[in-house]
Parts: sequence; C-alpha cells; structure tokens
Amino acid sequence: MVLKLYKYSVSILGTGFIGLCSAACFANKDIRVLASTHNEKKANMINEGKAPFYEADLQEMMDNIKSTKPELLQCLLDPVKAVLETDISMITQGTPMREDKSINLGYIENTAREIGEALKQKNSYHLVVVRSTVVPGTARNMVGKIITDVSGKEPGKDFGLCMQPEFLAEGRSIEDTLHPDRIVIGEIDEKSGAMLQEFYEYFYGDHLENCPILRMNLESAELVKYGNNCLLSTKISYANEFANFAQLVPNVDIVQVMKGVGLDYRINHRFLGAGVGFGGSCFHKDVNAIKTWSKSKGYTSRLLEAVLGINDDQAIHIVDIAEELAGNLAGKKVTLLGLSFKPGTDDMREAASIRVVKELIKRGITDIVGYDPKALETAEIELGDKIKYAPSVEEALKGSECALLITEWDEFKKLKPDDFKKHMKTPNLVDGRRIYNYKVYNRVLPFRAIGRV
Ligand code: UGA
Repeated sequence: MVLKLYKYSVSILGTGFIGLCSAACFANKDIRVLASTHNEKKANMINEGKAPFYEADLQEMMDNIKSTKPELLQCLLDPVKAVLETDISMITQGTPMREDKSINLGYIENTAREIGEALKQKNSYHLVVVRSTVVPGTARNMVGKIITDVSGKEPGKDFGLCMQPEFLAEGRSIEDTLHPDRIVIGEIDEKSGAMLQEFYEYFYGDHLENCPILRMNLESAELVKYGNNCLLSTKISYANEFANFAQLVPNVDIVQVMKGVGLDYRINHRFLGAGVGFGGSCFHKDVNAIKTWSKSKGYTSRLLEAVLGINDDQAIHIVDIAEELAGNLAGKKVTLLGLSFKPGTDDMREAASIRVVKELIKRGITDIVGYDPKALETAEIELGDKIKYAPSVEEALKGSECALLITEWDEFKKLKPDDFKKHMKTPNLVDGRRIYNYKVYNRVLPFRAIGRV
C-alpha cells in the first residue's frame, strides 16, 4: 500500500492553528499527513495548498509541500477514513469557553467518538494523542472511555493514549513547532509514551539535543499546560499591579521597575510587560477553565480570580488616565490605535480593545474611531457599529481629541510626536503598551503612559 512508503502516517483531527501548523511541519519532513475537518471550504483550500487563515510562514510551507510532494498533506471530510489510513491520530480540536466560563469539550467528545468508530474497524495498534488544552482527567475519562465504549477495543492493548500539551503562540506557530523548548508527553502506559517519543525523535532528529522530553501520566501533562498559561497570565497581571503602584508615585517608571525585576535569573523579563492587559483565545479561556474546574472539585482559586480581575481593570485604568489627561471625553472624538489582541494577527478574541470600547461607552464616549493594520474586518464583526473604522492612522487621528495606543504594531512605533500634532484636534496621547520614549513624548505632547506619572 502507498501509505507504507512513509515511516509514519498521522491523522490530524482539527485544522486550527495547532492542527494545520503541525500538519504542514510534519508533511514537510516526509511524514504522511491526513488532516480532517467537517468544514468543506477549509478542506478544499488546504487541498489546493492554500492556508485558510494567516499565520507567519505557513503559506510558504504549504507552497513547498504542494510543489514538491503534494501527496504528503491531504485534508479529508471523513475523520473515520483519516484514522483508518494512519497509525497515529492527533486530536487538535478547539476547547472554547462556555457561557459559564467552564471548558466546552464538545468537539473533543465528537472526535473521540469518530476515532472509536474507526478503531472498531481496525485490527492493528493505533496511537491516539490529545493535543488540545483539556482539564485534567479528560484524556483518560472522556477520550479513552469513549473510544473504548464505541470501538470495543482495550486501551493499552489495542490502542495507546497520550496527552501532549501544545505551547505554540499565535504568530509563531511554525517557529514554535519546529523549535520547542520541551516536549511533554503524558501517557496511559509506557508503550504509548515510547511510541510518541520515537515519533518526535524521528521528526526532530538532531534538533532534540537541547529539548528535553518529559514523560509523565496523562493528568499531570494536562495540568502542565494550565500551569504555563496561568503563570504567564499571572506575570502580566503582576506587572500591571505594579504599574498601578508606580502610578501612585511621581517619576517611577514601570518599564524600569520590571527590567530590574526581570533581570533576576529566577524570574526573567518575559511577560512582565505592563499594558492594557492580555487578550487572545487562550489566556482568558484557560485561566477560567482551570478555575471553574477546580471550583467544581471543591477548591476555590483566589490567585486566578485576582489575575483576571486585574486584567479586566486595566481597560478602566487606561480610560481613567485618558480622562485625567484630556478631561471629560464625552462628546469628543477618541481614537484607538490597534484593535487586535496582539500585533501580527487579525485575531480579535478577548482583545483588550473590546474592554476599552465597553468602558468608553459606559462613560458616554460614543465618537470612537479605531484603526488596525490587519484587524479592521474582524474588529467590525466583533464591535459592529459601536465604533467607526478608519482606513489609515492619519484618518483615525483626524479631528481626534485623545488617542489611546492599544496594540503595539510596528506601524505605530514609527509615529513621531509631530504626526499626532499634525492630525489631531488636541494631541492627547495615552500609551497603553509603553512603546513611546516617555521623556521625549512627555516633553512635546500632552502625554501619559501606563505605569508612569
Ligand atoms: C499563548 C501562550 O503564549 C502560548 O504558549 C500558548 O500555547 C497559547 O497561548 C495557547 O494556549 O494556545 P497567544 O495567546 O497566542 O499564546 O499569545 P501571547 O503571545 O502569549 O500573548 C497573549 C496576550 O498577552 C496578548 O494580548 C499580549 O498583548 C499580552 N501580553 C504578553 C502582555 O500584555 N504583556 C506581556 O508582557 C506579554
């Protein structure tokens, strides 16, 4: 059979950032990949070699696969077939947040059922790997159990089960997939973990020299992922708490304070950037998911409650700072520079801009105009007619009485004080991401920045 020409054939069930970036990276290294989705349009695009969403380097990688070995990456609409034709299946479905802030495992449940249907028809050993972020117990008690019930097969004997949490960040998905700092393998038994470790030794080859592989049980691996995202979120809220302390004392600067803190080798400076707060599809969802999960088990997290509260309040603080600087802003035009949750993406999920708009409107400020180099369309879907959308920075600043820097795109870093003076009615500027030189801007503009008075 053709498939056996390749050492490994892997089915990737779910074609979001994790799924498709892994699929492309694997295929690029001679691993046969059958991706699967229920979205026909997406499947067609992938089969035509087109990335269905923007992610740095993904299209180039797909172009290379399409022109050199197109058979290595195919996308099916039939997950059962994808599982049947491969030896390893990776679940890369999303785990969104429910209305009550708990984790929605619906896609994982369906996929486990589809894998069970396939394994019912398969006689050889198959390895199932959960790579989605799931609360502890999901891989064993939901995925493993559903597959067992549906297929009639026995975990450990007929199929293996691993949990391999994913640490890639949007905008760096390919880079992070190709150069991980560690690989965490949760395993139901030694055989499952050994098979996944061998797969990665093959995939990474020499690159694994500086990348430890950690083997543990399924539940520990599930918790590692939350440990990461919650600590990163905590670092950001910690920096924001100190930014608020810094604002109590004249001339204290949070950027210098966090630089001093972060140079401690036990801490490091990453994710200590104070600002309007974290956004994105992961931090909010994951902090809420593990908090809600622990509460359902009888433990209430006070730390994570505070992390989320501090983050939400940053939107209020930036509007406070704006009104201290510019006076009451009701009835005046206010500009938001940047709408996406971070630079390099058009993703608006949980973006700080949404919370800032909410706070502005709450204070009767309704003449809001936003500009973003990439996220104007997605912002309009999210924010609708709550704000107006400008096609350029100049248009966004024209006639404005206060500009709030929300996302630190390079385009905004290049702006000079004169650009604000030239276009705005009154050039009040609030730096919500600390991208402007405080001393310079404060001298020539009515200027304020988070974490500094
Ligand atoms: C995050 C993690 O960084 C990844 O390791 C993880 O795999 C991913 O979630 C996930 O769970 O899938 P991501 O949400 O793509 O990745 O973005 P980050 O680069 O982590 O930024 C998240 C937010 O934190 C952004 O809004 C950013 O502006 C904010 N941030 C980041 C700060 O406010 N201050 C900082 O110092 C750093």
